[in-house]
Amino acid sequence: MSERLSEISRHMQELRDAIELHNIRYYELDTPTIPDADFDKLFRELEELEQRHPQLITPDSPTQRVGIPPLKAFPRVAHRTPMLSLSNAFTEGEVEAFDRRVRQSLGIDHAEYAVEPKFDGLAISLCYENGTLVSGATRGDGYIGEDVTLNLKTIRSIPLGLKVADGGAGVPAFLEVRGEVLMLKADFERLNRQQREKNEKTFINPRNAAAGSLRQLDPRITANRNLRFFAYGIGACEGGNVPQDTHSHLLDYLSSLRFPVMRERRTVTGVAGLLEYHHEISGLREQLPYDIDGTVYKVNQLEYQEKLGFVSRAPRFALAHKFPAQEATTELLGIDVQVGRTGALTPVARLKPVFVGGATVTNATLHNEDEIRRKDVMIGDRVTVRRAGDVIPEVVAVQKESRPSDAKPFVMPRHCPVCGSRTVRLPGETLTRCTGGLFCPAQRKQAILHFASRRAMNIHGLGDKLVDHLVDNAIIRTPADLYKLGLAALAALDRMGEKSAGNIINEIEKSKDTILARFIYSLGIRNVGEATARDLARHFGGLDRLMEADVETLQQVSDVGPVVAQSIAGFFGERHNREVVEQLRAVGIRWKEDAGIQTADHAAGSAHLEAGAASSKIAGRIFVLTGTLPTMSREEAREKIEAMGGKVAGSVSKKTDYVVAGSDSGSKYDKALELGVALLDEAELMRLLQASQADDSSTQADS
Ligand code: IVH
Repeated sequence: MSERLSEISRHMQELRDAIELHNIRYYELDTPTIPDADFDKLFRELEELEQRHPQLITPDSPTQRVGIPPLKAFPRVAHRTPMLSLSNAFTEGEVEAFDRRVRQSLGIDHAEYAVEPKFDGLAISLCYENGTLVSGATRGDGYIGEDVTLNLKTIRSIPLGLKVADGGAGVPAFLEVRGEVLMLKADFERLNRQQREKNEKTFINPRNAAAGSLRQLDPRITANRNLRFFAYGIGACEGGNVPQDTHSHLLDYLSSLRFPVMRERRTVTGVAGLLEYHHEISGLREQLPYDIDGTVYKVNQLEYQEKLGFVSRAPRFALAHKFPAQEATTELLGIDVQVGRTGALTPVARLKPVFVGGATVTNATLHNEDEIRRKDVMIGDRVTVRRAGDVIPEVVAVQKESRPSDAKPFVMPRHCPVCGSRTVRLPGETLTRCTGGLFCPAQRKQAILHFASRRAMNIHGLGDKLVDHLVDNAIIRTPADLYKLGLAALAALDRMGEKSAGNIINEIEKSKDTILARFIYSLGIRNVGEATARDLARHFGGLDRLMEADVETLQQVSDVGPVVAQSIAGFFGERHNREVVEQLRAVGIRWKEDAGIQTADHAAGSAHLEAGAASSKIAGRIFVLTGTLPTMSREEAREKIEAMGGKVAGSVSKKTDYVVAGSDSGSKYDKALELGVALLDEAELMRLLQASQADDSSTQADS
């Protein structure tokens, strides 16, 4: 062997070993460490080398078979006909080539295709004898699979017996149905949340979760995982009235036997039909309740399918048209910390630029400190980044085996990277926050808007556009600066006439006469709502005593527990906050001690926000959150809504604008239906938030 050839041979062995290792992680352990796209690359490289050097193909090469041998834990079953895989296409050119080959081989001008989504789950075969489910198996290596009959029987969408409309005469003596077992995205999120609570292993994606759940030795665990099944074809059949003409009729038949069949299937003609379908499904992808990774095209006539036959591992009559990969690996260069409008600190991964999900990504969220620990992320690691649709890119996993020796752990900063105030993480919360409050530039606008709101200092006309303008141009920094605004300075602002400037100055002046409870509420101390502010005012009777109170003293106030007490003490413990309070007193704010906030009705309560953003779908609107949302906690959803000026209430009434409902939502959901309140799911909420953000920035750009 020439030196070059032996080098190639060595490289091929390396590729085989790597593919084997990843196969085991994927199929056997259900915990892959590289994205599918990276795996495909390794596989393609090996295939190409084998094509160029066929003499170097070894019988144990992973290209010579599908998947891996079945686990020893389950009995093995031989498939009557092999369960093969599909050839992949990534470009329109590859799809055109497929259609051309089909037409040429069949000698036809136009081919009809049955088209379907490509489920991202795991392939399953179900065998029915005289209408009774007798065995169910995974694909295994394509020839021999694992017998997981007991586990499959726990999946409610799998019929245990077949009922044929004609009363029984048409039941096939034998029928092998093939399809995909998967976990819905919402069930996946719920499972991971439960796993986290129990301190158990979380799953990287719904497919791994489905695989891990199906391959449990204890079927009771599988039964609890809410797996789904969708049929996409048959393996073999004897007797019965099984259609012999087209694939689409076969699926209709399976559907009539009560097998779940994907709703989005269709028949189309020619390449144009294939590509149009692909684009349509690609647009639907985010809304589908399950993960898909492409579309599948199958020549519809079964007779043609037979004629076309198979090449090594895949049929010639079918093609998987894959979406661009949503996961890729890259290097984590550093971790920055961003401060949101509510003071929450979010660690953000700085990445070596990587192309994923159709865009170049340089940053990805790491969510919070616990997530970093759970995923064991260190600076310098190679990480898997996921970018799905419009969702913010995130780091989903770390390749620990390639961790450099100088990788550094992440430490949550003790001081706010924006204003330098101390940061705190309260017991029971996942988020770390800046205590800078009124002082922190990142939180300034929010703090000022809250300060001016109707139920706080009630400065009518100070809407979010004006506050944006005043803060962005460094005209004001804190709420105290509002009282130093001159008429001339305000009137000189864009679009601000002398009259409206005069009105606002009047409003500001008027707000100086207030009551203590309102003033406390206006400071925007975390966890201090109107009721708590009222209790604090009543209990302490004056501001100084409140400001000096320690955590223990604070807890003597009714309804003030350790979390709220910490939050208050933390706020007044910051020198900056005390300074702002002193400035507010210095500009002449005065209050009648110990009185409560008069209750104003809601419409008036949100008037100031509406004045600033009359058309906004969020600002000033009342939201109620209920049930478990698929990707975020209710706390996160609340923050997002509040950051855009919306309010979150605890119960549904006629005044509620939206009910955001996750899974397991009960009476609030019913109430919303009863009152005709708009219902949103998490994705719709995100779209609403994004739309409002876009509105905001475009109007800002205009002014
Ligand atoms: S038909 C000869 N239809 O894709 C193989 N497969 O690479 C015929 N898959 O693991 C398969 N959705 O489980 C077919 N609508 C669909 C599919 C589908 C997902 C999976 C299948 C297999 C892989 C094939």
